[in-house]
Amino acid sequence: MKLSDTEQSMLNGAHGEGVRKAMEIVVALGTIYEAEDLVPVSHVQVSGVSYKNLGEAGLEFLREWAAQGARVSVPTTLNPAGMDIEQWRELGFSETFAAQQHAVLDAFVAMGITPTCTCAPYLVGYAPRFGDHLAWGESSAVSYANSVLGARTNREGGPGALAAAITGRTARYGLHLDENRRANVLVDVRCPVIETSDFGALGYMVGKQVKNGIPYFRGLDPAACTPAKLKSLGAAMAASGAVAMYHIEGVTPEARQATTDRRLPTADHRPPIANNAQIIIIDSLEEGYTALSTLDAPRSTLDLVWIGCPHASLDEIAAIAAQVEGKKLRTPLWVTTARQVREQAAQRGYLQTIEQAGGRIVGDTCLIVAPIEELGLKRIATNSGKGAFYGPSHAHAEICFGTTEQCVQAAISGEWRERERGRGGDRATESMHKLTE
Ligand code: F3S
Repeated sequence: MKLSDTEQSMLNGAHGEGVRKAMEIVVALGTIYEAEDLVPVSHVQVSGVSYKNLGEAGLEFLREWAAQGARVSVPTTLNPAGMDIEQWRELGFSETFAAQQHAVLDAFVAMGITPTCTCAPYLVGYAPRFGDHLAWGESSAVSYANSVLGARTNREGGPGALAAAITGRTARYGLHLDENRRANVLVDVRCPVIETSDFGALGYMVGKQVKNGIPYFRGLDPAACTPAKLKSLGAAMAASGAVAMYHIEGVTPEARQATTDRRLPTADHRPPIANNAQIIIIDSLEEGYTALSTLDAPRSTLDLVWIGCPHASLDEIAAIAAQVEGKKLRTPLWVTTARQVREQAAQRGYLQTIEQAGGRIVGDTCLIVAPIEELGLKRIATNSGKGAFYGPSHAHAEICFGTTEQCVQAAISGEWRERERGRGGDRATESMHKLTE
């Protein structure tokens, strides 16, 4: 692999032990993936922040690296932690867990990292530009950056992302290269996909089939493809499979100019699809809804309704505030989001509206990375395909999976109600769709 003089001196230890160790990791990854050289990154997103996942060994690893003088050289932000940093006591987290989580954050801050604690850094001022090279470690954000924003990042592991943050570089392979960004699966969607949960169900089904492939969607209504719904689609595909990038005809930037007839490609308007692409037809979302709903009891009572996976945008919070305004919730409602978005929601009055109804806007964390077993939350409703996918395995929770409207209604009425679904999404709830756009 070609290294510049500066990169070689980093590897030789001229910049200190912390940098040497980081460059060793970057070069090792580049060697494994046969990269020709390194590429500068403009931003790094570090995953593996919750003490629940890191444990004592992870904390020690971070402390040692920080003590060796490792400091980030590019803007670097953090994935969700295991608790809300400001409200952890009110929400029921233990003193012990809070101390451990603070120790993790202290180690990251010592390295110069901004403790944003969100899986949607693009909502809090860290949206990359088209073509930017990144080293992001959160699968839903990786998918959003590559697909919706047209930036370039592989899915980095925790140490790989930190190493990139310290050296300011990552190995140039995978999705950093043009030739690896073409779709190898054509997904022909022949049913309505409208609600956020429809996009989650679709993402679950496609991710399961294409694994780490790159799907190209045809047949989705561009008007339904709002940023919030695309974040849900990508998150679900990255959870049930390992999809790090997708294209949507007429929507995502690298597919926007694609012809609608792939038999007649022109030099300038060729869809980014490999010639030998596999074809998948989706004519119903039923399989996704059924697989993601593990709590199969009509009129179930719930411990919690959870919205905000990936972390909710201000628009999503505004829509929920409008729905619960003046109501009294019978089931606790948590909307998880970035602390900065929570502050914006407070400035606009949405926070107060949701709290007056009895709900919470929870910052910095989510139900999958928080130790929610300690909080006794076992029966959870969500509109998130990713949240529903990981709920049983990571949070030991039974899940009701449905539309945002179903979730909010369950919070208001105190029980989950199934609804009749057609072959795809539910036309009856189109008004809700308009509300969340
Ligand atoms: Fe984010 Fe947690 Fe979902 S990290 S994508 S809210 S599982």
